[in-house]
Amino acid sequence: MSVTVVVGAQFGDEGKGKIVDALVKKNGVRLVIRYNGGANAGHTVVIDDQTFKLHQVPSGIFHPGVTCAIGNGAVVDPIQLSNELNELQRRGVSTNNFFVSHRAHVVMPWHPLLDLAAEERRVEKIGTTGRGIGPCYEDKAARRGIRVGDLLDQATLRAKVQELWELKRSDLRDFPELLARLPSAEQILGNMALCAGQINPRVWDVDEMTRLRWRAGECILLEGAQGTLLDLELGTYPNVSSSLATSAGACVGSGLPPKAISKVICVAKAYTTRVGNGPFRTEQDNEIGERLRQQGQEFGTTTGRARRCGWFDAYMVKRSCEINGADGIVLTKLDVLTGFDPIRVAPHFIKYEPIDYYDCLPGWTESINDVTRWDDLHENARDYVKYLEQACGTDIIAVATGPSRDAVIWR
Ligand code: IMP
Repeated sequence: MSVTVVVGAQFGDEGKGKIVDALVKKNGVRLVIRYNGGANAGHTVVIDDQTFKLHQVPSGIFHPGVTCAIGNGAVVDPIQLSNELNELQRRGVSTNNFFVSHRAHVVMPWHPLLDLAAEERRVEKIGTTGRGIGPCYEDKAARRGIRVGDLLDQATLRAKVQELWELKRSDLRDFPELLARLPSAEQILGNMALCAGQINPRVWDVDEMTRLRWRAGECILLEGAQGTLLDLELGTYPNVSSSLATSAGACVGSGLPPKAISKVICVAKAYTTRVGNGPFRTEQDNEIGERLRQQGQEFGTTTGRARRCGWFDAYMVKRSCEINGADGIVLTKLDVLTGFDPIRVAPHFIKYEPIDYYDCLPGWTESINDVTRWDDLHENARDYVKYLEQACGTDIIAVATGPSRDAVIWR
């Protein structure tokens, strides 16, 4: 009986998709639940010569027979989800074992517009993904949101859409251009009916199913989106997303009790990136940052925006490991640091900005791409990993050395 949580230790984009995909196979996982966030996420899995970018569907979907579900803590854009499922099917990936919680909230067509309006109003911009995530969670907290279960009952859905449409139209009245993009209530209902064939049969009591399967002793993985520093409660507020991204959020967002969690894995990139605004102490707004961006192809999976890049911040990752109760770290994209010499790290004891001191570690120039054995890794790369392990006070249980699904060293 094991329940593993996979959570981002930085600002999202740590490479969780690839690690979830690998862990499903390695640990014989039978059920994967995506527990927070929505189509703001972009989880990439590279299988042979094919790259899949998942936004809402859990990254376990490539394993036949594994059930994948969106939990109650996530928010669902039904039109985008329907497109994502169609695209997976078109590319030969079975989605028969995919389900979505009837309790998850629905991102409605007015939410992205309200997201843009809220951003426009802010003096200090957050730099949201514009996917309507914040406004959808706002409606959830205000207890007026539409839930996935409502999609099954035409009369309830119609009544809710009509009522909320009036309210949202009035919320958008100061933004005529955005208001002009708001479809009519009838159009919205029509568009939702178009994807009902794809979505409605997938609606399920996911939290009950998860508890049943946990009690039956199945191996379960809870897949987090975004990262600890984007968590609504413990991230760099207000520059955060609106969901609960931490391991505690995994319980809330899946319906499993805290005592069910047997293992927490924090995924951290070998350097740091951030999309959108907000504090980033080790940012390199210079040639080093540009080189990291190009070598690491640091452009948003969802928005295509250039990610801000900088050195590894050991204080930040250590703190994330403590918040999540990490049993181990998976370090990703180590290969991207090839050619950087020295490699700098903000030490674990520097809590406050600005960072005026970095530890310097020797780099390496030989390619470490796709190395799968620890002993085959360049000595300086191994020393870098060991240094980070010490600094973060948590074992680094695996190191990713390239985008492909097998480019992982399990230690
Ligand atoms: P929102 O989630 O669209 O409201 O955006 C809030 C903040 O979180 C912005 O800075 C986004 O760039 C960031 N963000 C949201 N989702 C992701 C993600 O999956 N990866 C990285 N950053 C994200």
